[in-house]
Amino acid sequence: MTATPPRFVVIGNPVGHSLSPAIHAQFSKETGIALEYSTLLAPLDEFRITAKHFFAVQEGRGANVTLPFKVEALRYATQATDRARLAGAANVLTSSGQHVVADNTDGAGLVVDLCSNLGVALAGKRIALVGAGGAARGVIAPLLAGSPARLVVANRTVERARDLAREFAALGPIEAGAIESLEDGAFDILINATSTSTKGTPLALPRGSLAPGALAYDMAYGPAAKPFVDNMLALGARASDGLGMLVEQAAEAFQVWHGVRPRTAGVLATLRARA
Ligand code: ATR
Repeated sequence: MTATPPRFVVIGNPVGHSLSPAIHAQFSKETGIALEYSTLLAPLDEFRITAKHFFAVQEGRGANVTLPFKVEALRYATQATDRARLAGAANVLTSSGQHVVADNTDGAGLVVDLCSNLGVALAGKRIALVGAGGAARGVIAPLLAGSPARLVVANRTVERARDLAREFAALGPIEAGAIESLEDGAFDILINATSTSTKGTPLALPRGSLAPGALAYDMAYGPAAKPFVDNMLALGARASDGLGMLVEQAAEAFQVWHGVRPRTAGVLATLRARA
């Protein structure tokens, strides 16, 4: 008799476009760990019911959570890791006996992509993080853990950036400003964590934001990120979209669930070839 493989899903709305099932299927093949992984569409006002049904009735082992439910996922869980609490949101839920544990692997995914895939160490670097919504909040603690010289959170609405800088002040050299304040900042790494790419309204950056040889990084990926990436390349910067972050956050989640970190280069190459 063969045991049924453990069940995993990605919950979102919309979720049909999600690359997570393909990524986890390839990790499963690569590691030889059997699993079932599919998408689960939750109605916008029924995240809790959908998650409860998956964990309690279908005996689901784990769920990735994507937009717009990441904040709700943290509230739904009965336990949370420190990194999920700091992020104020969860992209990973794991069944553990009576509990569902919230975790957040987005920030770790970004840092692994920057450091391992793109070869950019964070220590001593001047980093600009543009945006102050959930996407920005989720990566602040892992970026500060890399010991940058400074981390400037720049946002259209400055007050939101100030709130984040105050909240994370104990973790490292974080400052807040307007996007215009990045002028002549000569940042080594600039991360676009705004929703501009997904909304199709290109992010305008002031002159001198980037140091020579800087890396400009968009947390969005694929065609949505192309205008930002092209603009940055035209300014002479190195530029990357966030596909690597997507794959690395999935690898971190895989490790949480299965205790093994899969190799990611093959998956990333497959997805890039498809794009
Ligand atoms: P998310 O959870 O994806 O971060 P969000 O909380 O709605 O989404 O935050 C969106 C971010 O993109 C915010 O930092 C927003 O700036 P404001 O706080 O000033 O609204 C930023 N953003 C959206 N459109 C923008 C634009 N056209 N130019 C600059 N920043 C923009």
